[in-house]
Amino acid sequence: MSEKVLQYNQPSLQGTLAIPGDKSVSHRSVMFGAIATGRTTVEGFLLGEDCLSTIDCFRKLGVAIEVNGTNVTIDSAGIENWQEPTEVLYTGNSGTTTRLMLGILAGSSIHSVMTGDASIGKRPMRRVIDPLRQMGAQITGRANGQYTPLAIQGTTLQAIDYTMPVASAQVKSAILLAGLRAEGTTIVRESEVSRDHTERMLRQFGVQVEVDNGVVSLQGGQTLTGTHVAVPGDISSAAFFLVAGAICANSRITLENVGINPTRDGIIEVLQQMGAAITVTPSDNEQAEPTATVTIETSTLQGTTIGGDIIPRLIDEIPIIALLATQAQGQTIIKDAEELKVKETDRITAVVDELKKLGANIEATEDGMVIEGPTPLHGAALRTYGDHRIGMMGAIASLITADAVTLDDAECVAVSYPSFFEHIEAVKK
Ligand code: S3P
Repeated sequence: MSEKVLQYNQPSLQGTLAIPGDKSVSHRSVMFGAIATGRTTVEGFLLGEDCLSTIDCFRKLGVAIEVNGTNVTIDSAGIENWQEPTEVLYTGNSGTTTRLMLGILAGSSIHSVMTGDASIGKRPMRRVIDPLRQMGAQITGRANGQYTPLAIQGTTLQAIDYTMPVASAQVKSAILLAGLRAEGTTIVRESEVSRDHTERMLRQFGVQVEVDNGVVSLQGGQTLTGTHVAVPGDISSAAFFLVAGAICANSRITLENVGINPTRDGIIEVLQQMGAAITVTPSDNEQAEPTATVTIETSTLQGTTIGGDIIPRLIDEIPIIALLATQAQGQTIIKDAEELKVKETDRITAVVDELKKLGANIEATEDGMVIEGPTPLHGAALRTYGDHRIGMMGAIASLITADAVTLDDAECVAVSYPSFFEHIEAVKK
């Protein structure tokens, strides 16, 4: 953990950035490539710490994975041929690795033990383990499986018809991945649609997945065949520079290769609602995940209300949206976002406490926050709580403060965006 002093002297931002690979899609490319038989090639892979944790876990299961820059090759003889790991599978800070692997390992034929860092040790796992146990999974863990470390004895599973109590792509994906190895047709019902990368990518690997009005189903016993995966840029990473471009004076930045999957693009809708000068030009490639070039300029912003079914489409962007709202005229209300409390840290408390230190007019609510703007922000010493998105929120705030912002742990940004500080350097004038 190392402290970083950020003193940018209120730059304008100009130029073009190629947004690094999507974290959710990168994880899945390695996981599905490991389940599949044959070779999977991935381009645009995110070399963030979370995705490297996923690679590390699958290597411990005997899967051959080569990393060459942002190209990754996975050679697997299929899930039936994985080795029983002699070491604990370490998932680091990654909720996606931990939860999706539970679904995968539950229906394998091997025994494994999984643990992660201090943040993972506090994140609820019963939301995944409860439905998996209903399918017959044998998983034990601390507090009856609520927390890591977790032990999984792979076994035969039965299909399930499951109505999701929370909007969570991690839970949905874990159930679908277990469903691949189960007897019968697994059905997951969502009242609010969460990100659909699993459904899209399973099809790329040759799996038949039906999606109809929030109901996702797949037949057990289907196998995956190695394929090529093009990872789009991560809209959750782009979000930091979209907000930076809108709030810094005399700015205009262009972000290339931004994934605009409709289950992820809530940030663009919010920027438009708030009056931002944003243009989205979709790329004309025919990939499983659509991308666009997005340009943003310094903007006059209005407060807005964000709640309901848009929340899963921007859940990871709420910290940076809160910063955006401090620069908008009037009130912004963020509601229906209790899920923030169980992210890498309690993001309602972290966002409100840290933005207050910078001078923001912001109050926490039970399910979100209320922000009054615009308020000029000033420098302060901030805590990241080891949470990459809180760290990046603080760093973007420092672009509009006259004096320095200090982050207690700036290295945590490498979880999802290792080149983040270089990208600030590349566009600041
Ligand atoms: C993710 C799903 C989201 C998101 C996380 C990545 C995924 O979590 O917050 O960063 O890759 O499936 P939930 O599905 O738990 O909301």
